[in-house]
Amino acid sequence: MLNKYNKNTLFEFAADVSRGLGDKNKQLSPKYFYDDVGSKLFEKICIQPEYYPTRIEYDIIKTNLKNITKELDLPLSLVELGSGNSKKTFLLLENFAQLQKPFAYYFPIDVSHKILHESSNLLSTVINNLKIHYIHDDFFNGLKIANDYIKNKQNLAIPENKLVIFLGSSIGNFEPEQAKSFLLNIRKNLKTSDYFLIGFDLQKDQYVIENAYNDKNGITAMFNLNILNRINKELGGNFNLDFFEHRAFYNNKENRIEMHLVSKLDQYVYIKYIDKSFHFRKNETIHTENSYKYTQKQIEDISKDAGFTIKQLFFDKNNWFVLSLLKPI
Ligand SMILES: C[S@@+](CC[C@H](N)C(=O)[O-])C[C@H]1O[C@@H](n2cnc3c(N)ncnc32)[C@H](O)[C@@H]1O
Repeated sequence: MLNKYNKNTLFEFAADVSRGLGDKNKQLSPKYFYDDVGSKLFEKICIQPEYYPTRIEYDIIKTNLKNITKELDLPLSLVELGSGNSKKTFLLLENFAQLQKPFAYYFPIDVSHKILHESSNLLSTVINNLKIHYIHDDFFNGLKIANDYIKNKQNLAIPENKLVIFLGSSIGNFEPEQAKSFLLNIRKNLKTSDYFLIGFDLQKDQYVIENAYNDKNGITAMFNLNILNRINKELGGNFNLDFFEHRAFYNNKENRIEMHLVSKLDQYVYIKYIDKSFHFRKNETIHTENSYKYTQKQIEDISKDAGFTIKQLFFDKNNWFVLSLLKPI
């Protein structure tokens, strides 16, 4: 591991919770979904029949492995933002390990330590000539750490050029302006000889999308509610999870899925770490996630505005999801 996630994390979590629950429109950032329990629940979401993004993105990579590789000037160090269980990346890594002997280098970055550790261990046992330096940090600290490491260790034959990947349509969690700043920031951290591969979930029949976030097994509901559990565990909150319920719906005007936690009754919740009580009216909601769905035109515009050119777009057969291979201009 190249870095230990900094100690300010709990303080930052507390400050964000205090601010978010104190807002007129209560909200919590989706990045707090991913404690150990949340990461495991997300893995379960990915295998629910209704949750198409993971399955489709996996298939796109599998089907286009040769075409993706053909576009790349190997050798490359593979750096992944928010790597999770790295299951989709496995396909690329196996390919790199074949082509880049003696070693392929992988820098997974994630705020969730357990899943990062477990998936790195697993990958290094199944892919022989893979060197993994996992980075327990957030996207941009992590990317900076990977950049510095690659720059300083060139004598060890770590490929100087990078393929940075951002899968799972996590870009959709940002507001459109934030998404643009995010891409601009990525661009600042890349050289023109690097690449950026990013997954976007596309606009489609809203019922398909709504079903994906309302699986019959209730796993997404558990995932959503777990954020309250995390506040209870880490910040000494007294949320009663039975008094809140999951709600996810498609907002047609904004082209996004919204996830909320709805208070089933009028109640107060106390959080010890920040020594504050919060009042919830019956039916008042905490907004926990947006997931914006894109059009091809929006992807072209945002890529261009951030200083990238599109090398290739890889779609599934229904045009539900697209993997975009971008090159810094
Ligand atoms: C939607 S999951 C996607 C996981 C994986 N990339 C996939 O496609 O299945 C988002 C991942 O990003 C991580 N994550 C969320 N916010 C992050 C941040 N600010 N910095 C680093 N990792 C983050 C989470 O822990 C989680 O593993």
